[in-house]
Amino acid sequence: QNGFFGVIERYRDRMPMEGIDTIVTLGEGSTPLVPAPVLGQVLDAEVYVKVEGANPTGSFKDRGMTMAMSKALADGSKAVVCASTGNTSASASAYASRAHMMPVVLLPQGKIAAGKLAQAVVHGGRIIQVQGNFDDCLTIARDLAANFPVSLVNSVNPYRIEGQKTASFEIVDCLGDAPDIHALPVGNAGNITAYWKGYQEYAADGPATHTPRMFGFQAAGAAPLVLGHDVENPETVATAIRIGKPASGSKALAARDDSNGLISSVTDEQILDAQAFLAAKEGIFVEPASAAGVAGLLALKQSGDLPAGQRIVITVTGNGLKDIDTALSRTELSTEAVEPSTDRVAALLGMHR
Ligand code: F0G
Repeated sequence: QNGFFGVIERYRDRMPMEGIDTIVTLGEGSTPLVPAPVLGQVLDAEVYVKVEGANPTGSFKDRGMTMAMSKALADGSKAVVCASTGNTSASASAYASRAHMMPVVLLPQGKIAAGKLAQAVVHGGRIIQVQGNFDDCLTIARDLAANFPVSLVNSVNPYRIEGQKTASFEIVDCLGDAPDIHALPVGNAGNITAYWKGYQEYAADGPATHTPRMFGFQAAGAAPLVLGHDVENPETVATAIRIGKPASGSKALAARDDSNGLISSVTDEQILDAQAFLAAKEGIFVEPASAAGVAGLLALKQSGDLPAGQRIVITVTGNGLKDIDTALSRTELSTEAVEPSTDRVAALLGMHR
């Protein structure tokens, strides 16, 4: 697979293509499934990481956006709208500009990582910062789409789910079967819904002999599915999943129950520790929200709630470069400058001729 073909071409026979003849794509999907041996040792498991930050705009959203945008184009839409914690707005802006449509993005004021905001800006998104959280933005976006000539491209749009389910196909195609456990972060709950749909389809009539247990992880300050009720003022360092009223919450709970899985929460500290672990031990830099799956599995292992010897796939949803402010805030940058001399550099490193 290469950049000329995105997920629609790769899995065309499993996509709702009726009426769609122009495909809006940036060559999304076919992302690396990377073995994670250090994590595997800690978890006493065979672990793979699905690196969704390798998509064209740096997150898994592109898989769904190619479908949603192709459908919007087929419907004759001139504009699309989304509410977003950042990644959806980046993806929607890129794909809309590619399709010559106007992207309107509603963002919770001051709670978007700088890299994501930059993406919406450079792709020409009509950016509206809302004095509220993601849930407020989504309410407005839905209302706009219901009453004005704009297409909604949030994951409540079923075409988004269709595109995103391809990640499960890729994993099974790569491993030869479904894993025992699939772990991922949960925010608005579209992605866990999409993965579960993909795994089910591939187990029904595809190459998989079974479906995995779905393990979803929310941030402790934004964990409505764990608490069992909406969270009015969600708060977490993982701004991508700072969501208190997940639109696809009931589908996430169904995926959990039907797969004999779980949805649990992890603290901001566990998230940041997992992010640092992945970067330092496996060479994979992800944004904070993306580390929730790793954090959750580490916590389960620690409490003795993770069975040994499992084959586990963890989706890391977005690229670490999206939010460098959070990453840098945790480390002490050496500001020391040195003369251009090999000896001085060697001395600083404690090395001597
Ligand atoms: N990880 C990242 C990096 C995300 O950006 C999101 C969601 C999720 C996980 C959770 O996925 O919502 O399908 O459960 N970001 C959305 C956005 C809300 O606006 O970019 P989910």
